[in-house]
Order: sequence, then structure tokens, then C-alpha cells
Amino acid sequence: KDLLDVTQLSKDEVMHLLDTAEQFHEINSRPVKKVPTLKGKSVIMFFSEPSTRTKMSFDMAGKRLSADTFALGKSGSSLQKGESLKDTALTLQAMNPDIIVIRDSSSGAAQFLAERLPCSIINAGDGRHAHPTQAILDSFTLRAHWNNQFEGKELLILGDVAHSRVARSNVLMLNKLGVKVRLCAPRTLLPRGVDTWPAEVFTNLDQAIKGVDAVMCLRLQLERQQAGLLPDLSEYSNTHCLTRRRLEEAKPGALVMHPGPMNRG
Ligand code: CP
Repeated sequence: KDLLDVTQLSKDEVMHLLDTAEQFHEINSRPVKKVPTLKGKSVIMFFSEPSTRTKMSFDMAGKRLSADTFALGKSGSSLQKGESLKDTALTLQAMNPDIIVIRDSSSGAAQFLAERLPCSIINAGDGRHAHPTQAILDSFTLRAHWNNQFEGKELLILGDVAHSRVARSNVLMLNKLGVKVRLCAPRTLLPRGVDTWPAEVFTNLDQAIKGVDAVMCLRLQLERQQAGLLPDLSEYSNTHCLTRRRLEEAKPGALVMHPGPMNRG
């Protein structure tokens, strides 16, 4: 009933989602952007962490599919008065929604609700653990750019991999689809155990970028970092910032992606 991480999806299910998205994508360019697919369904966006892209995308998608959408954030809710995640979720469940889309700073928050509530839970990002809908969206973008081909393509994920749920979900998703994934970051921004991930790991960007078909950049996740992981920010920028010169080492026409939010420079 839930979407918690990409590990629960088979390759066929991912392809089915991408094909379905392809059909719905066209609705966005119609003069009347509305279809009745989710008429009568209630969707709650429960975002206790900030979001621009994910929250607005879910809200707009829900409305364009004729669902009733409702938003609850940390600011302005009783979470600020000390109510727990569980009690807030039980209160929402009492209103009988069909779907709760949750973003939370705790890894495992979506699973926690999925085990306790009968409605569907969609994980819109939990701590540094997973961001499955970002990975589905990135696969959708890559498939369009690569003319429906995933097999044998190479993608580099560059930046703060250690704190990134986007990196985790994308490594698992793209590996499932046959894409070879490279990771590049200073040693202190690579997660413990990264050598067991299905990806090739680099610390040197000039080596990592050679011949890749796409580069996905990540911001420094300052809200999840301990101090002192980078001795010098300008040195990090010198060694790991994607520049036009560095991009020339990728394949001609390589796609540059960023899940946002972006830190320029
Ligand atoms: N990509 C992404 O999750 O962006 P937001 O944090 O703005 O939702």
C-alpha cells in the first residue's frame, strides 16, 4: 500500500511507472490541466522539513488528477507545541485520508507511519535514507534524454553523497535499470560502507567524470552535517565544483542534473 523506497519496485514496475508518467505528462501542457483519475481521494502533504519542488509537485499533481489535497507543515502545526510524529499521524488518520505524503528529517519516518496507519504512505524524503519519487523522476528525465536506453549508460553523482537520500535512492534505482553509477566526493563526504554500494567510488573529479553520459550534482547538506567535514570550503569548490572545463571530459552532450536545492558556486 506504500511507497517507501525504490528497493520495493521491480524493474518492470519502474518501467510501468515511467510509461504511465509519460501518458500523464501531456496533461501539463493542456489549456485545462485536469483529469478525473483521483476524484474523491484525499491526499495529505505532511512535510515537517522544508521543500519547494517535492511539495509543490505532489500538490499540483494531486490537484491535476482531481484529488483533494491538504498541506501540513511543522511550522503552524501542533508539532511545534510538542505533539509527536505518531500522535500527529494518528490525528490525520482519524480524518480518513487515502494517502499521506510525508517528508521528515528522521530516517525511517515513512516506514514508521506505514506500519501504524491503514492509509497509503508515500515517502517524500526521510532523513538521509531515501527519496524514491526523486529517483523515479530522475529515471524519467534520463530515459527521455537517452532515447529509452538505460543499459550501458554511465552516470556520475558528485558532491555530498554521505548525507544525501537522493544519492542513495538513485544508486539503487539506476543500478536496477542497468546504468553504471560512479560516485565522487572528498573522503569525508562519502558514507561509511560506500565500498559495498553498487557503484564505482572516486575522490578525484577529473578521473570520475571521464566519459560519463550524465552528471548529477549534489549540494552540501549543511542541515545534516557535523562541523569539520571540510577543512576549507573554497578548496572543496576548487576540487569538486563542476565547471565547463571539467564537463568537456564527459561524453559530448552529457546531461547535467541537480535535484535541488542548489548552492551556486
Ligand atoms: N529535490 C527535492 O527534494 O527538492 P525540495 O527539497 O525542494 O523538495
